[in-house]
Amino acid sequence: MKKTLNKSNFGFETSSHPTNERLQTVSLSKDTVKHFAEKISNLDVQSVEYKPFLRFLVANSLNQTTNNTLGNYLLNTIKDRSTGAVLLQCESIDDSSLNGIDLIDFNILLSTAVSHLIGVPNLDSMSGKYYARFSVKNDDNSDSYLRQAHRRMELHNDGTYVKELTDWVIMQKMVEVNVEGGDSLLLHVDDWQDLDKFYQHPLANENLQWGSPASKNVGYKTYHPIFLKEQVKGEPRMSFIDQFVEPLNMDQGLYLYELGESLENETKTFNVKLQEGSILIINNYIWLHGRDKFIAHKNLHRELLRQRGVFVENTGYDNNNNV
Ligand SMILES: [Fe+2]
Repeated sequence: MKKTLNKSNFGFETSSHPTNERLQTVSLSKDTVKHFAEKISNLDVQSVEYKPFLRFLVANSLNQTTNNTLGNYLLNTIKDRSTGAVLLQCESIDDSSLNGIDLIDFNILLSTAVSHLIGVPNLDSMSGKYYARFSVKNDDNSDSYLRQAHRRMELHNDGTYVKELTDWVIMQKMVEVNVEGGDSLLLHVDDWQDLDKFYQHPLANENLQWGSPASKNVGYKTYHPIFLKEQVKGEPRMSFIDQFVEPLNMDQGLYLYELGESLENETKTFNVKLQEGSILIINNYIWLHGRDKFIAHKNLHRELLRQRGVFVENTGYDNNNNV
């Protein structure tokens, strides 16, 4: 594992992930966890849900325990196209380091701190909060693949069917029981070997229609191309998901079918196993993500926390008025 020697970072260690050089791992030291827990021990999750400004207080508390170095590191890494992804873990967590805070509450507050160090989360329409917690079980009758264990969830970007921008996605593993398989799948846009074939296609920049099933609680359609250009250098960014794009003619349908097949057969896609409590942060428009299928187990249970949001300069953006 390649350690990145960066003397300016304090209270955490970074390295490249063993299976992919782009993915950066961050390990918060035991002292950082302990000092963060001390600083937030007078806050509870409900108050942080009710009062948005408290979320910045939580983020500032974490940043202070790292001499204000963690926020810069996370933001720079997520914005940097060559990396754009972080796997954040705590070196160790035990009762003595949590200062009386329940472990689930601590994890919610930790991911709250992370999201507010890189921007502002969007309202999650499935939960009505700035974050969503959801379960994956062996049996499920929902209307999308999100909670279904027995099948692979194809590579996609989040936020294709909402008006807000979705610059980043945070996925945190909260609980895991009887789970085998179900790793996160990741593919960087620049590693997709067929990128040019689909990016140079006449339909690459055409507005497509995007909708979503009832469980998502989004009652409108959006219109945007699959490829969005990087503001600065003109490099492609992607906003694609196979289930929610609605082709309106044969050309669009076949283009989308071939694009989906290409992504699913891409050999550069790699698996990441998330330990309980760990947090995966990705730049949503330059990383496609998915989930491998699980090995069947009747008592399989996994609980995840998700946040999606924007960099601070993109707050208040309305996709429908800007395409
Ligand atoms: Fe997703």
